Amino acid sequence: MTNITKIALGKNGPLVSKLGLGCMRMSPVWGGPTNDENESIATIQEALDNGINFLNTGDFYGAGHNELLVGKAIKGRRDDAFISVKFGAIFYGSQMLGLDLRPIAIKNFINYSLVRLGVDTIDLYQPCRLDNSVPMEDVIGTVADLIKEGKVRYLGVSEITADQLRKANSIHPVTALEIGYSLADRQIESDLLPVAKELGIGVVAFANTAEGLLTGEMKAPLPANDYHLHFSRFQGNNFVKNLEKVEVLKQIAKDKGCTPTQIAIAWVNTQGEHMMPLVSMSRRSRLPENIKAMDISFTREEMNALNTHFAPGAILGGTYLQR
Ligand SMILES: NC(=O)c1ccc[n+]([C@@H]2O[C@H](COP(=O)([O-])OP(=O)(O)OC[C@H]3O[C@@H](n4cnc5c(N)ncnc54)[C@H](OP(=O)(O)O)[C@@H]3O)[C@@H](O)[C@H]2O)c1
Repeated sequence: MTNITKIALGKNGPLVSKLGLGCMRMSPVWGGPTNDENESIATIQEALDNGINFLNTGDFYGAGHNELLVGKAIKGRRDDAFISVKFGAIFYGSQMLGLDLRPIAIKNFINYSLVRLGVDTIDLYQPCRLDNSVPMEDVIGTVADLIKEGKVRYLGVSEITADQLRKANSIHPVTALEIGYSLADRQIESDLLPVAKELGIGVVAFANTAEGLLTGEMKAPLPANDYHLHFSRFQGNNFVKNLEKVEVLKQIAKDKGCTPTQIAIAWVNTQGEHMMPLVSMSRRSRLPENIKAMDISFTREEMNALNTHFAPGAILGGTYLQR
């Protein structure tokens, strides 16, 4: 058993593993087949055995399927897990129709989440996005009420702007910001990350592999039904140029005796003590490689090389992260 370093999530926040397990891809969020459920549950349990206690889910991941999976995996070992749940996205089939952030809806969502997870309290509860459909005071205020009631322990936010983060934190202290961040997506470095640091908010950084691009396993052309083709990053000449950049990453990884995915995770991990790589893993075979990535450090020259080859904007086109 490996023991992953623990960090305080946010200023004086709870102790959580520095590596988080993203459970989203264990369920059919955007359509497509469901991963092997037994393997998914075994992966969560093996992650817990290895000291990865931060589990990330959403009530809309597979219309509750994902929370049910997490609930099964943590049965009898609730205290080993720190459960982070997002709410607010309304899906119909594999399409996201919009957000429902009304207090009355949030109070309904949480009851269902608690039942599906089989727990009395959710450790980190967060609106998946914020818009102007409901005043932020009402959204954050409702989570603050749930904290008072004991149904939630900490407030998180996800995919928001620097101004929204300041405002949310002024309504109730925000423990963690969940946000897409990788060598391929660095636009938040200029505004959002400095604000999170200033306010002492933990950063839970997802999409470290940029939809798989940085794993080095993607090849052109993609099959016509591949979901990546919805994103300009994976289309036409952008994709060809981006794969050239990935070749550079592959060489850096080879020189360092590791895999491109490990470099991608390690780069995020080494951006600061308050930064948690949140990585999707749907099979146990992913765990040893990704856990090992947490031990990788970079010399100044290596970091400079990565930051130069993958300067903001170096990867062409976007995904849904470009807000
Ligand atoms: N707040 C938000 O808006 C938001 C949005 C998206 C995701 N999230 C959360 O963040 C988590 C991570 O995000 P993500 O899934 O977009 O990004 P990711 O962690 O970069 O995962 C992308 C893919 O990389 C694969 N992978 C993992 N380790 C690998 C390895 N060592 N070699 C090759 N491939 C590997 C995973 O495959 P397998 O699944 O096959 O293991 C997964 O399909 C999600 O699970 C979810 O909990 C949050």
